[in-house]
Amino acid sequence: MRIWVLHGPNLNLLGTRETALYGKLTLSEINGEIATFAETQGIKVETFQSNSEGALVDRIQAAPHSGVEAIVLNAAAYTHTSIAIRDALLAVNIPAVEVHLSNIYRRESFRHQSRIADVVVGQVSGFGPQSYLLGIRGAMAFVSSKK
Ligand code: DQA
Repeated sequence: MRIWVLHGPNLNLLGTRETALYGKLTLSEINGEIATFAETQGIKVETFQSNSEGALVDRIQAAPHSGVEAIVLNAAAYTHTSIAIRDALLAVNIPAVEVHLSNIYRRESFRHQSRIADVVVGQVSGFGPQSYLLGIRGAMAFVSSKK
């Protein structure tokens, strides 16, 4: 099984960015945990980060041509604003899981709205870096259930 994990804006600053909220692991350390987890599960996971909405849309559009069976997406602040990312997820017929390090519902009210929540298979929010691993697990279970 092949899964893409996409990280949105400012997640490249993990490790130093608002550590009380997001923890002290850097993005490359989180990607390392994802790679280790993928190995134990016998699946292929590739990670990608961009601060640019368009680059994330391009990546989602590329998924069907890359044999990807599911997308795990932390769209970061674009979660709350991006109709373009929502439309891209709708355009590609690939199941997606929404993840957040923090619990977005315990934070400012503008973070309570997700523009993608109703077009993804499910959402994991609030478990720190574990959110990604839980999201991958959810994506794997969803894909397997459709086979
Ligand atoms: C985030 C939550 C978003 O509201 C925020 O803009 C982020 C990170 C999270 O992982 O908790 O950048 O997606």
